[in-house]
Amino acid sequence: MAKVKTTFFCQNCGTQYAQWQGQCKACKDWNTIVEELVQKPEKQVWKSSSSSSKRVAVPLKIDQIDTSKEPRLNTYNGELNRVLGGGIVPGSLTLLGGEPGIGKSTLMLQITLELPYKTLYVSGEESQKQIKMRAERIHPKGGNCFILTETKTQNIFKQIEDLQPEIVVIDSIQTLHSDYIESSSGSVSQIKECTTELIKFAKETATPVLLIGHITKDGSIAGPKILEHMVDTVLQFEGDRNHVFRILRAHKNRFGSTHELGIYEMQGSGLREVSNPSEILISKKDEELSGNAIAATLEGMRPLMIEVQALVSTAVYGTPQRSATGFNAKRLNMLLAVLEKRAGFRLGAKDVFLNITGGITVDDPAIDLAVVAAILSSNEDVPIQNDFCFAAEVGLSGEIRPVQRVEQRILEAEKLGFSTIFVSKHNKISLKTASIKVQLISKVEDLIGFVV
Ligand code: TYD
Ligand code: MG
Repeated sequence: MAKVKTTFFCQNCGTQYAQWQGQCKACKDWNTIVEELVQKPEKQVWKSSSSSSKRVAVPLKIDQIDTSKEPRLNTYNGELNRVLGGGIVPGSLTLLGGEPGIGKSTLMLQITLELPYKTLYVSGEESQKQIKMRAERIHPKGGNCFILTETKTQNIFKQIEDLQPEIVVIDSIQTLHSDYIESSSGSVSQIKECTTELIKFAKETATPVLLIGHITKDGSIAGPKILEHMVDTVLQFEGDRNHVFRILRAHKNRFGSTHELGIYEMQGSGLREVSNPSEILISKKDEELSGNAIAATLEGMRPLMIEVQALVSTAVYGTPQRSATGFNAKRLNMLLAVLEKRAGFRLGAKDVFLNITGGITVDDPAIDLAVVAAILSSNEDVPIQNDFCFAAEVGLSGEIRPVQRVEQRILEAEKLGFSTIFVSKHNKISLKTASIKVQLISKVEDLIGFVV
């Protein structure tokens, strides 16, 4: 019998050690090193019929390399195409991470069902019947989609060879198991080995592979960091499970920008693409209410109009309460201090609650001015005109600071029918707008005359 070989792996960064130690020398994390059983018989992973090992790679001058033969595969899903930079690159590995229950399996199944190509959806998590039930909810057709429930990579490759699919989806990488490694599924060495086998398969056959990955408590993809290095694209599916919006972003993309963002809405019949999110995020009210202000923010490259709601009330207890949903609480405190100092508002004895509607979290500093406006409006109980919107950062001395790509924000606001947008005086704007007034301001105090 072959001697059983074990090695020690850091569960965080994947570094291999000959013996156990308390701290990983590479990533400096404590207690992450775990013993895993490794056994390597003669390796026989993905083997294409052509003997590719005989082919010797030769260097080519960069302008001689022909890229025209590599058209991208249309995913027939506008939002996914946008995030990927125009479709899936043949032979690429894409990893999709996200919280449990956020809709990763739903998104991938929906995509494979909608594609007109022959697709294979491999699941190690659900049975064929369960997947069929889900598929019926999402899309009644889907004649080109094959479902396989298998976790052993060698068996998957065998089925792939017989079926010859044009796209392969694996749900999920943590359930895969390779015969050539003894340790259990989901361990560092298994994930590394299975991903290597899949990369080899993808590159040799030019078949794109989409992998679903679990994430850890702190939001990073479970397994070694090396997994993210190995794949070509890392997508993250995020959003609040209690709200219907889901955001798909690229954390890494070898073939496109990581600034693009896809927005979906979870419905009873699967995920619906949201091509104009601003219209949904803003509640169109006839009645003007105090404490509401609209911010022209940017999420990645996409302009997004977001509604900010503030409630300022007299503090019941000695210490006033401050609470923010979807917005950084420290930043809220800072803005309150600025208002207190610069605009003379005595907010120290008031409770302040702030909410970003739609369940989204915003970290674009351009939302500051809308937050300040909403607080002022609630404090005075004077509504802000509902065709006003705001896009500027507020500095510590109460100055209104410029934000990036202000013209794109102005155009979005104009498109949605806003009459006035408040921006910093220091923003360079060469844009000529027809129906929207661009109001330049330089200090928080300037806002008072306009909105309250
Ligand atoms: P799922 O795709 O199983 O999540 P993940 O693979 O990321 O763990 O998430 C499914 C969730 O979405 C589930 O809680 C129910 C909901 N859902 C809908 O609201 N509508 C649908 O059509 C489907 C299929 C799921
Ligand atoms: Mg799932």
